[in-house]
Amino acid sequence: MRNDQHAPRPATGKLGVLLPGLGAVSTTFIAGVELARRGMAPPIGSVTQMAHIRLGKRTDGRNPKISEFVPLAQLDDLVFGAWDPFPQDAYESALNAGVLDRHEHIEPIKDFLQSIKPMPAAFDQNYVKRLEGINVKPGRKRDWAEALREDIRRFREEKGCDRLVMVWCGSTEIYLQKGPAHETIEAFEAAIDADDDQIAPSMLYAYAAIMEGVPYANGAPNLSVDIPALTKLAQERGVPIAGKDFKTGQTLMKTIIAPGLKARMLGLEGWFSTNILGNRDGEVLDDPASFKTKEESKLSVLEHILQPAAYPELYGKFSHVVRINYYPPRGDAKEGWDSIDIKGWLGYPMQIKVDFLCRDSILAAPIVLDLAIFLDLASRSSMGGIQEWLSFYLKSPQTAEGLYPEHDLFIQQMKLKNTLRWLMGEEQITHLGLEYYLDHAESMAGV
Ligand SMILES: NC(=O)c1ccc[n+]([C@@H]2O[C@H](COP(=O)([O-])OP(=O)(O)OC[C@H]3O[C@@H](n4cnc5c(N)ncnc54)[C@H](O)[C@@H]3O)[C@@H](O)[C@H]2O)c1
Repeated sequence: MRNDQHAPRPATGKLGVLLPGLGAVSTTFIAGVELARRGMAPPIGSVTQMAHIRLGKRTDGRNPKISEFVPLAQLDDLVFGAWDPFPQDAYESALNAGVLDRHEHIEPIKDFLQSIKPMPAAFDQNYVKRLEGINVKPGRKRDWAEALREDIRRFREEKGCDRLVMVWCGSTEIYLQKGPAHETIEAFEAAIDADDDQIAPSMLYAYAAIMEGVPYANGAPNLSVDIPALTKLAQERGVPIAGKDFKTGQTLMKTIIAPGLKARMLGLEGWFSTNILGNRDGEVLDDPASFKTKEESKLSVLEHILQPAAYPELYGKFSHVVRINYYPPRGDAKEGWDSIDIKGWLGYPMQIKVDFLCRDSILAAPIVLDLAIFLDLASRSSMGGIQEWLSFYLKSPQTAEGLYPEHDLFIQQMKLKNTLRWLMGEEQITHLGLEYYLDHAESMAGV
């Protein structure tokens, strides 16, 4: 049963959605929200907009839409802000991204998209080697952190927002390992003051958000808010956070297929994944240092789902390879191939081939929307710190210290829906279902 302290407060007024990075994902998300609110396109892929939730017994027939069950911010209440080291507004950036059809989905909302101009970014090319930005903040890391906090306050004021959330949609930064500068907030603050290399720009956005009481989600695989200093700060200040790396495309498929193989005790010899994509994200990931960050995020998924230590015969020695190739002709229309070598009864080998002709940003945009809306719900429900129930949307879910992450999409979905039931004081659904049979049998036996 719900702890009353977490009953959600109503969602009144405007919700400002702040986006570091105004590239393919952000513009596809912003344009999609505007098209949906004008009734020009459906928000497919968004759980907050489309999914229903069962309440009570199967025989009760209660299956409302999530948006009618939980008090969520409405699409009409969303306003958008962004930062980017390139000065193009959302209209130009959407055209450059090449995701949406210009005549059907960009030109009709041109004025709206042109009204979203990126604020100067806290940017350092050392962290994203393939980009050279000109719309950047002057000074050093401490100046950037303070300037970001001022941006947040000014945006809230100018747009008359009741509440804000921030979702990192910026490029993948180079691979950084957690170190002493990330351990405590004191060490982190000292490292900002010293302009330490261990402090990446994405960490400054996360820090500024938490200090301003703004929930923060990280859509890229770089550390950002996934360091003890910031998770503790978020916990202490009661600010919800979630990360990292939007679960789209190939990893989404992996977390759908692998739990199925494991559920049926089919073994795995190897899983070879390769991608070709030609958008700016692909270009950034062509740099080995940024790819390393992505690779770490993509590789851990199978280990956690398949539990090789518990099933050495089935999963003790599988080989897992992930490749991303930058191939400009494809633009945002990525192709992800999976060649999966499995084994069945008596060890006989079989193969599964998946060729997913997907659209990266089309898969990512509804995730940005849901993370923004659910983080706002968490904030109105006094839930600070890591929101593991949002791991449904993420490739490398953050968890409490000492907990391994749940990668299985169906466990994640149950966790998400049960959290909503818990917040609203509804019974958890265990799917045991014996009551439909035992009651009957027992009544037949006169129990
Ligand atoms: N599209 C997907 O399916 C998907 C899935 C998982 C993760 N991601 C991640 O989401 C992020 C965005 O993807 P995208 O396809 O929109 O990439 P993109 O390259 O089109 O956009 C990223 C934008 O971030 C900007 N940027 C870089 N550093 C910044 C900084 N310090 N501050 C503000 N802006 C900054 C870049 O200039 C660029 O415009 C990437 O990190 C990507 O790896 C995307």
